[in-house]
Amino acid sequence: MVSLSQLAVIQIKGQKLPEMNNILRGLDSSRNLPGQLRVQLVDFCNEKCYFCHNEGRQDQHRVINENLMWKIIDASIMLSKFRVGFTGGEPTLNPMFSEYVLKLREKSAGVELTVTTNGSTLENLSSAVLERGINKLNISIHSLQRDKYKKITEKDLLDKVSRGLKRVAEFKNIDVFINMLVGSNNIKEIEDFVRYFSHFGYKINILDILGEDELKAPYGDIKKALEQVKKRLCVDEKIIELKPKIFHSKCEDCSFVPVCGEGEYLRVSVDSVLMPCMYRQDLFQSVHLDDDIDTTIRKVALGYRRVRYDDI
Ligand SMILES: C[S@@+](CC[C@H](N)C(=O)[O-])C[C@H]1O[C@@H](n2cnc3c(N)ncnc32)[C@H](O)[C@@H]1O
Ligand code: SF4
Repeated sequence: MVSLSQLAVIQIKGQKLPEMNNILRGLDSSRNLPGQLRVQLVDFCNEKCYFCHNEGRQDQHRVINENLMWKIIDASIMLSKFRVGFTGGEPTLNPMFSEYVLKLREKSAGVELTVTTNGSTLENLSSAVLERGINKLNISIHSLQRDKYKKITEKDLLDKVSRGLKRVAEFKNIDVFINMLVGSNNIKEIEDFVRYFSHFGYKINILDILGEDELKAPYGDIKKALEQVKKRLCVDEKIIELKPKIFHSKCEDCSFVPVCGEGEYLRVSVDSVLMPCMYRQDLFQSVHLDDDIDTTIRKVALGYRRVRYDDI
């Protein structure tokens, strides 16, 4: 099934995106930039989750352009934006993943780096990367039952993920969060997650499925199930939380509101496109290596300091 977000990603290929330099002239303040720059290091993955935004495509094998990536990261840092997220596809499958993590740390000790991963390769990461590179890990796990895990991801990697969790637990410097995406097929597992991850002391973020899917559980049902678990096990928001639907005021009139709620961030994709969210293809901006740094910064700033996206 192709979701709306997949459609946006598919449609963008081969399409010439608008040249924004004219519009960008005059934008020179970074005050309202989104807090985090998410960098899509690869567009492929070793799993195949049924709900995936299809960022982790298995028929592609693209990695981000390294020079362009640093140019955009540098621009963000120059604008005093210090939260960077590496994502994918499965970001740890980029052959340069460890180098990038360490290089980012060298560039600025103050940058907070979050890596969002399916956890299947964590056992192989070096101590240097885990000790001084990564500040925060979002590890996405959607079932603790081997068969169900296999059904959800189409891969039998739960044992590798478990070994990765054990390895990461040795590094107390990293804040670890578990991303559990809940649909009608695993809603009953929430309680098992709380019991299992309380041993690690990791917080669980419950996510609902964005976009359309037949296994999507209504947000209200997930909320109710979670409240019941919290009551039964006497746990609070510090242990487990349903990710709230966040909308920036400029998203107010957007037609994608019913399927979104991701909040504000800036994403750069493997194909060098800056996106304010997964859905608004009309706001995607292509960036080029030969753009001057000033233009890149302006592109980074684009829109994120306007009142509404529709004003752009
Ligand atoms: C696209 S993945 C990329 C990173 C990595 N492969 C992973 O799974 O964590 C980033 C996050 O988006 C979540 N995600 C994927 N498809 C989603 C969807 N349709 N709705 C909500 N979250 C989704 C994943 O569970 C994961 O936590
Ligand atoms: S592990 Fe992440 S990128 Fe891979 S299929 Fe699942 S959600 Fe998508």
